[in-house]
Amino acid sequence: MKKNVLVVLYSQSGQLADIVAVLTRPLQEAGIALHHEILRPEPDFPFPWPFFAFFDVFPESVRLDPRPNRPLALEPGATFDLVILAWPVWFLSPAQPITAFLQSADGRRLLAGRPVVSVVACRNMWLTAFDTLKTLVAEAGGRLVDHVALTDPTPALGSFVTTPRWMFTGRRDRFLGLPPAGVDARQVAGAARFGAALVAALARDEETRGHAMLGGLRAVKVAPHLIFSERAGRRAFRFWSGVVRLCGRAGQGRRLPALVLFVFYLVTMIVTVVPLNLAVQRLAAPLFARRFAALARRYEQPSGAGDARMAAHE
Ligand SMILES: Cc1cc2nc3c(=O)[nH]c(=O)nc-3n(C[C@H](O)[C@H](O)[C@H](O)COP(=O)(O)O)c2cc1C
Repeated sequence: MKKNVLVVLYSQSGQLADIVAVLTRPLQEAGIALHHEILRPEPDFPFPWPFFAFFDVFPESVRLDPRPNRPLALEPGATFDLVILAWPVWFLSPAQPITAFLQSADGRRLLAGRPVVSVVACRNMWLTAFDTLKTLVAEAGGRLVDHVALTDPTPALGSFVTTPRWMFTGRRDRFLGLPPAGVDARQVAGAARFGAALVAALARDEETRGHAMLGGLRAVKVAPHLIFSERAGRRAFRFWSGVVRLCGRAGQGRRLPALVLFVFYLVTMIVTVVPLNLAVQRLAAPLFARRFAALARRYEQPSGAGDARMAAHE
């Protein structure tokens, strides 16, 4: 029986759209029926971002209170064997259009009882957002069977410069000797291995069995030293998002003073506490080695960081 795969995607710069195009090409070539649903918020978020529009999406992203999407293009009643959900991270949370989709009646109907493959592409902080995504998928009735994470390979302090530059100007090219912003071309090209593995798995009806189909393909690589920074960031983001929302609703000028304070807080943290925290963790790494390894294993689920099947795809 011909398999039907739904691809749900939100991508502003086209980075995630490129990854999804490479990943789904093997499925298309194998004659699998693909339906692409590109989420369209109402009204659209800008890209490149004006400075305050960027920070104004922070509170609602963190509080899972997103701007709604326009209706989907799907035929009513359409059903799928597998859902590929491609999502960016916004402020340590799933991007608002993804949250809106997962909370919507259509999202719940499409995911109910279906296996879901999550594909994230972001700077490098996706761990707590992934916790949130798993909860949203489960609440929508979906079964998360695989997770692929592609991140910017530039070390954290460099991408703290190149990512905001990309977001605010649209330019990703080399800057101040730093590598281009975003996921590199090699990783994008490598996403084809996930599509090829899905083709083989679908041919064996593996999507119905509830286990990972992308094991052994280095689907994720967790940087465990970021876990504590992310968790501390989440707690601070919950506090600040509450403060900003007390001042007004999304888009209201009344929120500006609170957002300015938040930006000061964020920049201060990024240039002081984050590097200090990372340095202390590096020094203390031997003491935390077991805890880091356990946390890494947890976040590497369900697809795992193993590379046993890589040879077949290189
Ligand atoms: C508002 C906003 C917040 C972001 N926050 C994060 C973040 O917390 N962690 C992270 O790794 N990347 C973050 N990013 C980067 C995105 O995850 C993503 O890599 C980038 O926006 C490109 O995705 P695209 O395919 O939608 O263009 C953020 C981007 C935006 C626009």
